[in-house]
Amino acid sequence: MYAPAGGLARLAVLCAAAASLAGCAPPPQESDASPGYGPEPLAATPRDGQGGVPVDAVVRVSFSDHLDERTLYQGGLSLHSGPVSPWIMAYYDPVRRRLVVWPKSTLRANATWVLDVVEDANVPVAGLDGLPVKPGTLTSFRTGTAAGDNAPYVERTYDEDVRPIFERHCAACHKGPGTGVARLRLDTIEGVRDTTMGVPSDGWPTWPRIAPSRPGESYLVYKLLGYEGIVGAPMPASWEPDVPATRLTRRELETVSDWIAGGATFFDRLPGEE
Ligand code: HEC
Repeated sequence: MYAPAGGLARLAVLCAAAASLAGCAPPPQESDASPGYGPEPLAATPRDGQGGVPVDAVVRVSFSDHLDERTLYQGGLSLHSGPVSPWIMAYYDPVRRRLVVWPKSTLRANATWVLDVVEDANVPVAGLDGLPVKPGTLTSFRTGTAAGDNAPYVERTYDEDVRPIFERHCAACHKGPGTGVARLRLDTIEGVRDTTMGVPSDGWPTWPRIAPSRPGESYLVYKLLGYEGIVGAPMPASWEPDVPATRLTRRELETVSDWIAGGATFFDRLPGEE
């Protein structure tokens, strides 16, 4: 169940913490293995126990369900080697259902590094279902001495990669003149910039339509994925009752997500340079 603003799932968590309170039903049991926990980690790169990892490693962990990106920046994740713990960057890619974490500086060579979900974080890493990810180690690996060529996302440009997708699949409805369907304009750079970037969505008002650098906090991506918790229809929609809407291909979805992860910039063509 979707509950970004709290809702039932969070109530269930509160109730789990105060089971004696009147009105609280017993907490739901997700499974015998991890009662009360949300998304489960599935696979990680570097994989657990891997050696010779580049000192500029990017760590990726796929999950069984969507993470709530807003819980990733609050100390609930720790990359450390003994007491040494570098500053880390992170985002959630909802298309690949993957957490992406990387250190801001290169890692010490020939050392063991551990990525943990922290036990007593003020804000635990949680899923969109509101339930926390089970604390523990996501992966543990050993660095070699060399740097790799690791990038946390595939570089995508607006003009070459994203504009053709918006033009082909979206601009027929979300276009000017005027404000466009749902006050959303995806037909020009100015339209995209002014009606998506940091603009609260109608569907989930506490979420922006696009949050630059954070695909997992961008409501538009969940509309494209047809996530069950969205308000209204999956995008692109179809006006014709008999004509099913085409869905974006996996590659197109990844392109949009990577473009947002890279900052959702238009640097390849600045506004005003039509
Ligand atoms: C056939 C017309 C049509 C097409 C094509 C279309 N949309 Fe929409 N879109 C709508 C309508 C109508 C709504 C408002 C109702 C709803 O949210 O389901 C909407 C709503 C949205 C919203 C939600 C806005 C908010 O703030 O809640 C997003 C995001 C969106 N569209 C993105 C897209 C994208 C991206 C594409 C192309 C991949 C696209 N749409 C293609 C008709 C369309």
